[in-house]
Amino acid sequence: MTLLITGETQIYGIFGYPVKHTFSPPMQNAAFQAVHRNAVYLPFEVHPDQLATAVEGLRSLQIAGVNVTVPHKIEIIPYLDHVTSTALRIGAVNTIRNDAGRLIGTNTDGLGFVRSLEELSFHPEGSTIGILGAGGSTRSILVALAEANAQFIYLVNRTAHRAQRLAEEFDTRFPDTQVQAVSLDQLYGLSIDLLINTTTVGMKDDLSPADLHRFHTLHHVADIIYSPSQTPLLKQAEALNIPAINGIGMLLYQGCEAFRFWTNQTAPTEIMRAQLLQLLQPRI
Ligand SMILES: NC(=O)c1ccc[n+]([C@@H]2O[C@H](COP(=O)([O-])OP(=O)(O)OC[C@H]3O[C@@H](n4cnc5c(N)ncnc54)[C@H](OP(=O)(O)O)[C@@H]3O)[C@@H](O)[C@H]2O)c1
Repeated sequence: MTLLITGETQIYGIFGYPVKHTFSPPMQNAAFQAVHRNAVYLPFEVHPDQLATAVEGLRSLQIAGVNVTVPHKIEIIPYLDHVTSTALRIGAVNTIRNDAGRLIGTNTDGLGFVRSLEELSFHPEGSTIGILGAGGSTRSILVALAEANAQFIYLVNRTAHRAQRLAEEFDTRFPDTQVQAVSLDQLYGLSIDLLINTTTVGMKDDLSPADLHRFHTLHHVADIIYSPSQTPLLKQAEALNIPAINGIGMLLYQGCEAFRFWTNQTAPTEIMRAQLLQLLQPRI
């Protein structure tokens, strides 16, 4: 279907630097077309020095909404008029809506991850979760799992003090969730309902961030890496018959949640998934 741009077409997009490799434009344009919305989604490569003027541009050009990606997710916060409590807890914004010149920031990454767990029929409430990694994506996942009332979250990171700092920051913030930094050996000895890989290990190398044989008990595995679609960690989970998912669901559902934040409409999930899979196919 050809895209007809008119005087009434709403403009959405993504701020990033670089932004060339993003999957969001084809995914969101497919969604807008599927629901017959007169809207277009464009990539905006915003140099860090130009972030303030780019945000002003959202107002002056009446751009309806944007996603925000690396390296702007934290730095953009002071320029916004309102930031949701979830995004404030995470300390990063990945989606902005322009409400008649008032810029509202939120973060859909963690919620996207939690929604992807539906594919495992896994519900975080009351569960014990191990997270490998303590980077940017860990923060959004940690907040979403705590907001979904996970009971225990254990953090393991190569640079142990980063996990320790995250645990100290989050342990007291959520009354129903205990967050603790542990070593990988300690994690192996626990009974874990869900193990999540948020490290980059397995993305560009043939390595795994953990040996699943060594877990005392492990029920589910999620790797947020989406390319390759099956990391060494996920291959091992399959060999051991442990139900597992990759990061495609997180990528998809953060986009679906952004679509809903902008339009107040349910996203056409299957159209967006098909578009993503088509884009990822050559890499899978
Ligand atoms: N599916 C999705 O929608 C989605 C969304 C966001 C990110 N991701 C993926 O998630 C991964 C992490 O992204 P991020 O933004 O959180 O990255 P980040 O902030 O740079 O954090 C990277 C993490 O990986 C760890 N790490 C890196 N190399 C390692 C190694 N050789 N051994 C052990 N740990 C290592 C780092 O540990 P140190 O602290 O010790 O350096 C850190 O905890 C990437 O693969 C990214 O593609 C997926």
